[in-house]
Amino acid sequence: MLPQEKLEELYDSLTLEEKVGQLLQLNHIYFGVDGLLTGEALKWQFREEDVVHAGSVLNIFGRERLETLQREHLKNNKTPMIFMADVTSGYDIAYPFSLAQACSFDTKLVKALAGAAADAATADGINVTFSPMVDISRDARWGRCQESYGEDVFLSCQMTKAVVEGYQGERSDALSSLSACVKHFAAYGGAEGGRDYNNVELSRRALLETYLPPYKAAVEAGCDMVMTSFNTIGGVPATIDKQLVNDVLRGQWGFDGCVISDYAGILQCTCHRAVDNEKELAQLSVEAGVDIDMMDYIYTKYIPKLLAEGTLKEETFKNRVMNVLRLKNKKGLLEDPYRYLKGKAVDSEATYALAVKMVEESCVLLKNDEMLLPVRKEKRIALIGPYAVKEQAGTMWNMLSKKGQLFRKTPSEAFGELFEQPVMCEAGCAMLEYDNFLAEADRDTDPCYREPEKYQERAIEAARQAETVIMMLGEHGMQSGESASRAEITIPELQMKLLREIYEVNQNIVTVVFCGRPLDLREVSKRSKSVLIAWMPGDAGSEGIANLIAGRAVPTGKLSMSMPYCVGQCPVYYAMYPTGHGHAAPSKRFSSRYVDAPNAPLYPFGFGLSYTTFAYSDISADAEKLTQGGCIHFSATVTNTGDRDAEEVVQLYISDLSATGVSRPFRELKGFQRVLIRQSEAVEVVFEIKEEDLRFYNAQCQYESEAGEYIAYIGGDSRTENGVKFQL
Ligand code: NOJ
Repeated sequence: MLPQEKLEELYDSLTLEEKVGQLLQLNHIYFGVDGLLTGEALKWQFREEDVVHAGSVLNIFGRERLETLQREHLKNNKTPMIFMADVTSGYDIAYPFSLAQACSFDTKLVKALAGAAADAATADGINVTFSPMVDISRDARWGRCQESYGEDVFLSCQMTKAVVEGYQGERSDALSSLSACVKHFAAYGGAEGGRDYNNVELSRRALLETYLPPYKAAVEAGCDMVMTSFNTIGGVPATIDKQLVNDVLRGQWGFDGCVISDYAGILQCTCHRAVDNEKELAQLSVEAGVDIDMMDYIYTKYIPKLLAEGTLKEETFKNRVMNVLRLKNKKGLLEDPYRYLKGKAVDSEATYALAVKMVEESCVLLKNDEMLLPVRKEKRIALIGPYAVKEQAGTMWNMLSKKGQLFRKTPSEAFGELFEQPVMCEAGCAMLEYDNFLAEADRDTDPCYREPEKYQERAIEAARQAETVIMMLGEHGMQSGESASRAEITIPELQMKLLREIYEVNQNIVTVVFCGRPLDLREVSKRSKSVLIAWMPGDAGSEGIANLIAGRAVPTGKLSMSMPYCVGQCPVYYAMYPTGHGHAAPSKRFSSRYVDAPNAPLYPFGFGLSYTTFAYSDISADAEKLTQGGCIHFSATVTNTGDRDAEEVVQLYISDLSATGVSRPFRELKGFQRVLIRQSEAVEVVFEIKEEDLRFYNAQCQYESEAGEYIAYIGGDSRTENGVKFQL
């Protein structure tokens, strides 16, 4: 790493174009495989010299390609490029997405997977990943909740810390260290109506207490970058929100890394009607503290003008540029621009094994009547549904960064290895109705569109012959993810029709649900004896799911986001506030309820079954009162009452029974532990709570704890009533 004075010297030696270039990030459309400009510049109001000096690129993959790009860049620049990409859930191997990973409640595994992704991405020359996305998500309509760690603040913070540490490792300049860019700052997940990119309306308290903590956890874990969000909060675009970026992030939290806008996010402030003109926008954004302008011309076009006019202070501009130079320096790029481009071996096989484990831990078993699962290996099974014939279910970001298809197993291969009789495998129908615009790419390739009756008949026949039917149904991959919000959160109707047809001939149905968000699963639940949520499990999906179904692995996943009863409940989450009219009396007038649906979700946060059962008893505290500076231990005896060894995710929730002048949520998660409990054995699980764990934003919005009465609950999901009172 260069010392500070060398960095200053470097800054002084750069031309204005080179300095402004540090603040511009472009993608592949501007650079050919030969590293030369493609001539696209003018289309987007850049000048060729802007593109020549762009100090970073995003989502260009392939080490050789990046090396060529770097060589070309260095012909015209004194500083190297830095390479960034969306490596969001795996690189060489696609993992389950973050929402699924959070269901594992396994921070060690999450960290290991992030480390493995970092290893593979850095071996390919990538320096920074636009991950983790830690936007609290409470609205299942929002297509990007899959990229988040779900509805809960505590769980999200723990996951965030693990993943940042996993990506970055001990040292930012290590060859396998991938700098983390936490996003989308801030509160992008609070979009009104669950519609992507939409305005966010939040109270100051909700912002401070619920939405900001995960970003702060990333900063505390040392993440190198932060990305601002597209949304406005209360009308103010986050990208030009000086209070948020400069005062909170840099000031209060002491973040000294690099801030980048989201894709054309600066320019979009004009669409928000939040500025008079583009020059003013450049000024506001630079002053707010955004260093890199991703994919638009606002900085390159206007910063030189603002400097020449004296409207923008040289010092403010220098701060922005220095943040980028410091990041390049931290990565060791200023001394050796090619140090990540020399190639290194990556153990993809080990990563695949971790990914299988994550699939096993992230799938959530919601229902298992008559213990239909696990299915014994001598049974004759039929896999039916569009996902029964699909090789892989991943997200748009996986598709972007993937290199090889090394380990992919089809469902029929994965199940075939575990079952003694031949496994029947039938699509039964297409993924989406023919006229759905999202089906466009599949219309010519999916044979179910050409001969629907034939494929349906084949599926029904397979179901007739099978002892157990494994329905593999779910959302189309394009129904979730960025810009894929939904107003109906159900499985496509043609798949539901198939389920009904199959139900007529065989009711021994296990439904494996592939989805990018929580869904309304009322009918699926009714027509299936067992329901297993597989999310979008990625490359190891077939193997992990087959292991679970065959009982080689025991489900341990717990929901990181509530499964709503119906879309009308959204947002629905466990940490809601009580009302003056009660919650739990659907038939009573004047209570806070729906007249046509319950308040409770179909399956709550933290819920998930196992192939064994656990009983909770002896919930106790080692003191009645928690003192300032002291701590209190809560313990529970958890007994494995079934006939299998299994892990249980034991959860601690705390309920603050009264505050001064401000309401408090029903309860909040404050701890969790994954514990292995052998069959018929019991373990004592202990949680430690300190005064600071009870702090919240009080009526004056100060972060403090208050004396009063509390209840600590310990159980296997957020509905547990096993509690013990204590005081502070
Ligand atoms: C837009 C997305 O909102 C963001 O998450 C992503 O990192 C950028 N595009 C870059 O691909």
